[in-house]
Amino acid sequence: MPVILAKSAGFCFGVDRAVSYLLEKCKTEKISTYGPIIHNKNVVDRLKKNGVESIDNIDDLKEGYKLAIRTHGVGKDIIDTLEKKGVEYIDLTCPYVKKIHKIVSENHKNGKKIVIVGDREHPEVIGINGWCEGSAFITTTTENIEENIKPTDDICIVSQTTLDRKTFEKITNFSKNYCQNTKVFDTICKATSERQAEAAEISKKSDVMIVVGGKNSSNTNKLADICKIHCKNTFKVESFEEIPQDIDIPKNKVGITAGASTPLWIIKEVVSNMTEKENGVIDFAKEFEEYEKSLITLNTGDIVKGTVIRVQDNGVSVNLGYKSDGFVPATEMTDDPSVSIYDMVKPGDEIEVFVVRVSDVEGEVTLSKKKIDSIRNASLLEEAFESKEILEGKVIDAVNGGVIVLYKGMRIFVPASQASDRFLSDLSLLVGTEVKFRIIDISKRRGRNKVVGSIKSVLKEEKNKLAEEFWASAEVGKKYEGIVKSLTSFGAFVDVGGVDGLVHISELSWAKIKHPSEVVKVGDAIEVYIIECDKESGKISLGFKKVEDNPWEKAKAELELDKVVEAKIVRIVPFGAFAQIFPGVDGLIHISQVANKRIGKVEDELTVGQYVQAKIVELDLEKQKIGLSIRALLAPEAPAEEVVEETAPVAEEVAEAVETVEE
Ligand code: F3S
Repeated sequence: MPVILAKSAGFCFGVDRAVSYLLEKCKTEKISTYGPIIHNKNVVDRLKKNGVESIDNIDDLKEGYKLAIRTHGVGKDIIDTLEKKGVEYIDLTCPYVKKIHKIVSENHKNGKKIVIVGDREHPEVIGINGWCEGSAFITTTTENIEENIKPTDDICIVSQTTLDRKTFEKITNFSKNYCQNTKVFDTICKATSERQAEAAEISKKSDVMIVVGGKNSSNTNKLADICKIHCKNTFKVESFEEIPQDIDIPKNKVGITAGASTPLWIIKEVVSNMTEKENGVIDFAKEFEEYEKSLITLNTGDIVKGTVIRVQDNGVSVNLGYKSDGFVPATEMTDDPSVSIYDMVKPGDEIEVFVVRVSDVEGEVTLSKKKIDSIRNASLLEEAFESKEILEGKVIDAVNGGVIVLYKGMRIFVPASQASDRFLSDLSLLVGTEVKFRIIDISKRRGRNKVVGSIKSVLKEEKNKLAEEFWASAEVGKKYEGIVKSLTSFGAFVDVGGVDGLVHISELSWAKIKHPSEVVKVGDAIEVYIIECDKESGKISLGFKKVEDNPWEKAKAELELDKVVEAKIVRIVPFGAFAQIFPGVDGLIHISQVANKRIGKVEDELTVGQYVQAKIVELDLEKQKIGLSIRALLAPEAPAEEVVEETAPVAEEVAEAVETVEE
């Protein structure tokens, strides 16, 4: 086909919005524009014919007229002046340009130096600069950056909406390397970049390229520059009259594109003119019809499919085939805080979304993915409620009175009483855990489904099943791997699989302990065995200390009469001192055996914690009794007959004392 018309040719969203508004409003209201509404003489003339004149000075506004601010926008100083003077104004600044004003204003207030990549003479750039009190550094090259910015400066870079991407990337890359603190906002209008990309493509295939647009239109001039790179026969025209007459259409392939401020009727004239020359090979009307048909219409509540264009921290931009793109805020992608939206979708992915708001004013379609998930899954919940099915989800939040479980994108409330099968003083401990639950109630509240879940219901059921299995095989002596569930002063409760048994404090250790926490802590996995169990009462006594760890077994192997041991004094009583030979095995040093002289009080010779050398003078392992003597090591060697007389009473005294302790 010898004539190719760019699909993106003509009014962009911002211009269409402003011009349509004026053409409609001027029927009933008196309006002037502050400067030409767009850079296109034909449009300006047409508005003028309808009574909408352009003025350059606010003071020239006639009595009874409203002032329309053009799509390029103005600086804050102009807005302030209008408000101060009480001038009624209509702000037709393109929403995309307004976003730049907001970025610049906020970053300027935060002390950042503003850099605008764009044409300093262009009204849009002048307007943007007016939101940082005219303090911006404006450039289109990297050459003068070092003269104007210090490497230590904190800078914020924005671009003119119609800037070509290569220039923007060149400058931002340079700045990022040059300045430590560079914040970049890509504010190139997508409509512009798409139009430029399409123009480049068509110009590569064309022998002649016609770029239609106003002489002062920056985006039309840029389009022409781009086309010239690929097609040297590029002509920039304001109307069909300016098309060179000598173009031999049938022999040459002709590409046509148009700037963002070029109205449809001018493009139609140009294309008609070219196609007439070509004897009507192209059905122009049909081309436009098809293009318009290709744009979908959107309504709030629609469920549509789109293609992901961009994923950013704050959300996902989606091409819906609508005149403007849609945006899914990050909060509308998922409720699961542990899921990154970068992991959910990537550019090029197809995504199904719910239309939350179609706003022509803001120029953006607000979307939600979460809502779709919840609509889709609402019937699943109803079914799960009816069938009492067990569902699996993740606890994502602890709220007043319960927790929130996320299930297939839906937030299910689980009251505190249903969050566990035991009392939990801190519900936040559940956050982040995967849980099984079932729906126990669905009710309508203010038109919305209120869904209540229960984790406890599933836990109890699982526990009952395990308990049944446990009792079916439980017997004294059987070993289990259990989990310590709680501690009390008298022992530790251990879950042995569906049932809890008690390990009494005396069964936790062979040594004397004051509290179970000296041996185990909640959550410990420990091996226990059944000492006693009664299915009727459901009571289970468990043992933890092992027979092989019994210190008296060690004593049997290592201790003998007359052996000298090192022992630690652990307790002093009026008739002597108890000394620990090793943990769990103590011996008694009778007061008569503390020294080789008569002593008044044991404390005069010994203190608790002291280590002493002592001889075993009494050993009854069956009765777990040991008598020790320090004196036996200190006494001078006596004659054999005297020793017999001496040692007999020693053994007797110790034996007597041990008996006394027993009593
Ligand atoms: Fe706005 Fe982009 Fe047009 S910024 S005026 S939609 S070119």
